Amino acid sequence: MTGAAKQIRLNAFNMNCVGHINHGLWTHPRDRSAEYNTLRYWTDQAKLLERGLFDGMFIADILGVYDIYGGGIDVTAREAVQLPVNDPTLIVPAMAAVTEHLGFGITLNVFAEAPYTFARRLSTLDHLTGGRVGWNVVTGYLESAHRGRGEALPAHDRRYDYADEYLEVLYKLWEGSWDDAAVRRDREGRVFSDPALIRPVSHRGEFLSVDGYHLCEPSPQRTPVLYQAGASGRGRAFAGRHAECVFISARDKASAREAVRAIRA
Ligand SMILES: Cc1cc2nc3c(=O)[nH]c(=O)nc-3n(C[C@H](O)[C@H](O)[C@H](O)COP(=O)(O)O)c2cc1C
Repeated sequence: MTGAAKQIRLNAFNMNCVGHINHGLWTHPRDRSAEYNTLRYWTDQAKLLERGLFDGMFIADILGVYDIYGGGIDVTAREAVQLPVNDPTLIVPAMAAVTEHLGFGITLNVFAEAPYTFARRLSTLDHLTGGRVGWNVVTGYLESAHRGRGEALPAHDRRYDYADEYLEVLYKLWEGSWDDAAVRRDREGRVFSDPALIRPVSHRGEFLSVDGYHLCEPSPQRTPVLYQAGASGRGRAFAGRHAECVFISARDKASAREAVRAIRA
């Protein structure tokens, strides 16, 4: 035996759709991707991963369609290229119910909803999974996603400026609104939560204005594990500030080393 063995963390990578990145595989006779819209597909997969000692399932997501190639969605729709795509959060409680250890990394775009309601969505998932949820923070790249919301896609670096402030608000809600001892569950004394230990959050920033109490009692992690996948300078700065896990895509060892050095710096 020599020294401590290094551990590798294994994540499965999927998306709540038919064709995530291995396009065309859904036509294989033994492929079940077309059953993505059933709970059984996800609970079977979660059980399989846990049995195989995977650490987590990572779920990608987008909020728009690929409509540039050929000037429309013809190929996208015919080949099921991330379309149709269902909500990535709603499959997680079902998978958590049939597993004990598997983690769930969910990709969610900061432009999808207001931080006030988003904070509740993630806290609820953290409660229901017993602290097994992570969030891949993405700022998006699809014009079509923003057209669907009736807005123009903000410039690249501005999207990260927004994401920084979005996270600032979330930290206030997740970490600052409820003290650890706020929830008593005291039947005899007839006190569920101690109001003196719950504070409203107040935020006035460049993009966001928030006044309110976080709606959830503290969840196991409060702030979930944060992932990020930005490769640009601004994306790396964002990752360095917030992320615990960072996706990189590198051609070889040297470029992987350089990417890691840059993020750490
Ligand atoms: C492995 C990996 C997975 C990603 N998954 C998603 C995703 O599911 N949804 C998404 O909108 N962007 C995803 N991205 C894109 C990133 O969020 C980011 O937009 C992209 O890496 C470009 O980074 P930059 O904007 O800092 O240049 C992913 C990137 C990588 C490398």
